Amino acid sequence: MKIIVTGGAGYIGSHTVVELLHAGFNPIIIDNLSNTDTRNIKGIKKITGKDVKFYNVDCTDSSSIKSIFEKEKDILALIHFAAFKSVEESLRLPEKYFKNNIGSLEVILYQMKKHNIDNIIFSSSCTVYGSPEKLPVTESSPFRNPESPYAETKQKCEEILKDSSLKSISLRYFNPIGSHPTGLIGDCSADRPANLVPIICEVASKKRENLVVNGNDYNTVDGTCVRDYIHVIDLAKSHVQALKYLLKNNCKEVFNIGTGQGLSILEIIHNFEKANQVKINFTFGPRRDGDIDKIYSDNLKVNKKLKWSSQISINQAMIDSWNWQLNKIK
Ligand SMILES: NC(=O)c1ccc[n+]([C@@H]2O[C@H](COP(=O)([O-])OP(=O)(O)OC[C@H]3O[C@@H](n4cnc5c(N)ncnc54)[C@H](O)[C@@H]3O)[C@@H](O)[C@H]2O)c1
Repeated sequence: MKIIVTGGAGYIGSHTVVELLHAGFNPIIIDNLSNTDTRNIKGIKKITGKDVKFYNVDCTDSSSIKSIFEKEKDILALIHFAAFKSVEESLRLPEKYFKNNIGSLEVILYQMKKHNIDNIIFSSSCTVYGSPEKLPVTESSPFRNPESPYAETKQKCEEILKDSSLKSISLRYFNPIGSHPTGLIGDCSADRPANLVPIICEVASKKRENLVVNGNDYNTVDGTCVRDYIHVIDLAKSHVQALKYLLKNNCKEVFNIGTGQGLSILEIIHNFEKANQVKINFTFGPRRDGDIDKIYSDNLKVNKKLKWSSQISINQAMIDSWNWQLNKIK
């Protein structure tokens, strides 16, 4: 049961590869290591005891993708994680995001059709909802004005999939956090993190002096932004459920993948301090471009159709996030 996992050496991809192996699938990774390194591939082997085939290839490189698909016979499905993911960078370098995020999907789809591979799961994002009118957001909430070129690439990719002849599931992730409890796989991005929990971890480890909380005048419980934080292992497991569903059904579907609970930045800081018994220094700064005040998921559809719901507590997610940071700096 061969499954191609593009971006499988990255943060969410590596956790999904572990869950696919646990579920009896045979994942094959394609990743150009543009935002990771080989640590996660070694980590997957240590966690599962299995060697996973890895191609160091760029998904926008049509001829290399073609040769992989020719070489690897009987591919059941493809999970497409490969993309750039920084909202902030996409505001500065939009072309880089359009070229890689949309370009890679186009190459993959073209080669899938040529090689009669019918099933694709796509990493989408709750950013497709822009600043939603109603909360929680359901899958039928409309796409709104994208707050960044990154969000625009996710909207565009979903539209491409809708128009394609292939069966597909787009998973709209909310905010992934945490890591495998072994501390062997995680987010290996070379750049300074732009997401809240990785920044908190850097403050806790004294790599950064303090956390700047961007904006305290939003229309939320304490004035700071509210998001739906989901443990990456829960998120990874949703791909296994989606894959099983896709293989059985002739469908084009989208699902929200969140916990359904919104937490503010200050609540996350408090949870992290409590779970790990460390103090996080923070100050308030100006609002950040592209941020909306609050968003969290309605999970009814995914609970019912994929029989999936998040299981891991926010407390555990905070412990696992800190554990990854400690392992990373060893
Ligand atoms: N982490 C989040 O907060 C978040 C939220 C919503 C959606 N997503 C989406 O989930 C997916 C995975 O995100 P992640 O957090 O694991 O990021 P990540 O950067 O850790 O993983 C993406 C992987 O894709 C690889 N990659 C990028 N472009 C490539 C290309 N052209 N060819 C081959 N490999 C390429 C990178 O090297 C990296 O290993 C992305 O599509 C991202 O947009 C992430």
